Amino acid sequence: MSKILVTGAAGFIGSQLSHRLWQDGEEVTLLDNFSYGSKDNLIFEDHDFREEICRKDIRDLDFMEKLFSEKHFDVVYHIAGITPLPDCQNMPVEAVDVNVRGTVIMLDLVRRYGAKQMIFASTSAVYENNTDFPSVESKVEKPSLLYPSTKYTSEQFCKAFSDAYGIPVVVLRFANVFGPHIDCLRTQPPVMGYIIRELFRGNRPVLHSTGDQERDFIYVDDLIDLALKVRSARSFDTVNVSTGRTVTINEIYRVIKEQMGRDTDPEYAEVGHFWANYPELYADPYPISTEIMEREVVKYTCLSNKHAQEEYGWKPKTSLEEGIKNTVEFSCRVLKKAEEKV
Ligand SMILES: NC(=O)c1ccc[n+]([C@@H]2O[C@H](COP(=O)([O-])OP(=O)(O)OC[C@H]3O[C@@H](n4cnc5c(N)ncnc54)[C@H](O)[C@@H]3O)[C@@H](O)[C@H]2O)c1
Repeated sequence: MSKILVTGAAGFIGSQLSHRLWQDGEEVTLLDNFSYGSKDNLIFEDHDFREEICRKDIRDLDFMEKLFSEKHFDVVYHIAGITPLPDCQNMPVEAVDVNVRGTVIMLDLVRRYGAKQMIFASTSAVYENNTDFPSVESKVEKPSLLYPSTKYTSEQFCKAFSDAYGIPVVVLRFANVFGPHIDCLRTQPPVMGYIIRELFRGNRPVLHSTGDQERDFIYVDDLIDLALKVRSARSFDTVNVSTGRTVTINEIYRVIKEQMGRDTDPEYAEVGHFWANYPELYADPYPISTEIMEREVVKYTCLSNKHAQEEYGWKPKTSLEEGIKNTVEFSCRVLKKAEEKV
């Protein structure tokens, strides 16, 4: 049994990772400040984590110091972060403080209290300016948007701490993740959460551009399988977590629509105000670059998972249909509960 800390444990990925670690018999400590995520994510059929989660900020230095000195963690899964792209554009100082400074705080705690490993949640968004596909771990064209910039910078700190102190840090670059617990309630949910929410509410979802843009989607259970396997790493590593295949947004829409028994067609909109819920990003004197917005909407993502396969003997197992079925079932329960609360 290992002592493991999961930050961001009330979020989509962190909650399910914590649950799997608990099922595996590990002594797992959950931590989240609930700036995103939810208490409902902590309720599982066989366990309820709501009472035991530490409701704390990773930047609460006194608390974190005390936690590390008392618990003597073996492994830290640093999953917490500000994830929505428009939120990072809209509050850059906070995004850097949480995503970059927060990661350095975790690395420094790992260093001083002797945890054996840290595993860091990074993103395929760092490849936003890449033009060679599938994207490989060794080649990143520096990103332009603030969210991937914070993650890319944090990756550099992971490498620096690993080089200087020999801490085996593993950077996981997640492709687009989907599965139960995906956020479907926040202002700008990920595309699957958005489509499910709008169809559930009887609205017509708006897809930007033609819907033919292709993305690499990885199911959350497959991601967790790999996040557990990389514990065998003994030195710094960067690993793509992806299927290595792409699917169009239109195809995703079709599968979700079928699973939900709806026959609503999507509306297609110009890229123009993709983040319409964030009008301040389009305000003078420096409105967000149209070119960058367009690139973000139509971008193609496909990440090689060759390194994960060869080094860690991992392969994604879940089909898109099965993954979407589980996502739809879970999200509809969340949406129903949210409706009942109103
Ligand atoms: N979901 C995806 O498709 C995806 C893709 C690539 C990378 N990632 C990365 O994976 C990680 C988890 O993503 P997710 O989809 O579960 O996001 P999420 O928003 O559901 O979870 C992140 C959690 O971190 C918590 N958090 C934020 N700031 C914190 C702070 N200062 N102190 C403590 N907790 C804090 C939030 O409250 C939230 O519960 C993130 O770091 C994200 O950048 C996610």
